[in-house]
Amino acid sequence: MRKKISVAIDGPAAAGKSTVAKIVAEHFNYIYVDTGAMYRALTYKAFSEGINPTEEQQLFSLLTQTEIVLKPSEHGQLVFLDGENVTAQIRNNEVTGSVSEVSKHRSIREEMVRRQQQLAKGGGVVMDGRDIGTHVLPEAEVKVFLIASVEERAQRRYQENAQKGFSADIEKLKEEIALRDKLDSEREVSPLKKANDAIELDTTSMTIEQVAKKITSLIEERIR
Ligand code: CDP
Ligand code: CDP
Repeated sequence: MRKKISVAIDGPAAAGKSTVAKIVAEHFNYIYVDTGAMYRALTYKAFSEGINPTEEQQLFSLLTQTEIVLKPSEHGQLVFLDGENVTAQIRNNEVTGSVSEVSKHRSIREEMVRRQQQLAKGGGVVMDGRDIGTHVLPEAEVKVFLIASVEERAQRRYQENAQKGFSADIEKLKEEIALRDKLDSEREVSPLKKANDAIELDTTSMTIEQVAKKITSLIEERIR
């Protein structure tokens, strides 16, 4: 049997992390963990309970009473919050606009990292986020840091919206992405940062297939 390793995929918003992480995980029959979905689920619950994203203690207490389950399905990964399927809701603008505020708190990050490490315990995992290579899985055998220009990333989100039948303002998307990148990179606790031993891939002019192939070959080299 081939060795089952851990793969960390980090990078800024809309760099293509979850799309390629899913493809790669499927290829190797690995577990895929979208850590952003966990922060989004907590942010969504905080809104429904009327908790302000700046209130660390209240958020932490909420998190300790919250079950977040990620389940693979043929329609992609589903996210269950206390048993309720919130896969679509956690992508709404309200959540996207506040998730960086919620995820900057130390106690929240510590608890999320604990849960993420638990999910990755057995190896055979592809995890994507902002701090996977630096904090969650510092021993991951393969670490990739995906980047792309902000114009390209806004364009990708624009097209994603169009495919779902929504219209979006590309300049607004660009602003939202740039602001979230700034907040995620400048926060004090485990900011978005390339791990020293991560391989940086600029995907601006790469197709999804090219990126997935590159990561697949990096994994192949490690499990041979
Ligand atoms: O998919 P998208 O790039 O829009 O974001 P995401 O991966 O769903 O993550 C949403 C937000 O959660 C990020 O902007 C970060 O603020 C936070 N996050 C984090 O702090 N650490 C992670 N490991 C993953 C996400
Ligand atoms: O997870 P993250 O926020 O980094 O990005 P994503 O949600 O996987 O990708 C954002 C959008 O870009 C998706 O609609 C992908 O299909 C698209 N994409 C692309 O067009 N070219 C790539 N090389 C990677 C992703």
